[in-house]
Amino acid sequence: MKIFIDSGDIAEIKEAAAMGVLDGCTTNPSLLAKAGRKIETAIPEICEVVDGPVSAEVLATEYEAILVEGRKLAKLHKNVVVKVPLILDGLKAVRTFKKEGIRTNVTLCFSPTQALLAAKAGAAFISPFLGRVDDIAGEGMELVEQIVQIYSNYDFETEVLAASIRSPLHVMQAAMIGAHCATIPIGVIRQLAKHPLTDVGLAKFLEDAKKSQDKAK
Ligand code: E4P
Repeated sequence: MKIFIDSGDIAEIKEAAAMGVLDGCTTNPSLLAKAGRKIETAIPEICEVVDGPVSAEVLATEYEAILVEGRKLAKLHKNVVVKVPLILDGLKAVRTFKKEGIRTNVTLCFSPTQALLAAKAGAAFISPFLGRVDDIAGEGMELVEQIVQIYSNYDFETEVLAASIRSPLHVMQAAMIGAHCATIPIGVIRQLAKHPLTDVGLAKFLEDAKKSQDKAK
């Protein structure tokens, strides 16, 4: 499973890239606002750090305006994937972008039928927001599973990008289901590597090594 960082904060993105496990990055207007960044300057900077797809989201909601904004974003860097909302005008724009060779990530997906349409329109990625489904007492992972199954039934090329991830359990379940990618906040990426038994075991190894070195001739 590909690991993307879900962030607009360049320090977080550099930290994840330095771990050597990063395949891409997703941003959204809320994440960029939180980082205090403008999309035009943040995206090229992120693309210099991330050697993979970097999602940049349009704010427009009408077909022509989505095209204008998406084309501008795509010109920022070769790694840019234009993030388009899952609305009818968005799907229409995805089809046009596909013909122009611009990759898209269809965002705000909350149902398998929405995902089916995104794949048919030619999206490179579909982003089911599993955490937000959980937030309203739904089963977010079930949505991811249904989309993976549908795409596999028909050999769609669209990659399932599990989004709105809140915990290491989400990451593990997305990987078990076979989601192609997961976009993960930095806090959860850090947690993925942690295990208390690793820390305890390492401390013991180091302690024993020190003792034996002190005794050794
Ligand atoms: C990524 O593409 C999404 O915008 C993001 O994962 C949404 O996460 P949230 O539900 O935690 O805001």
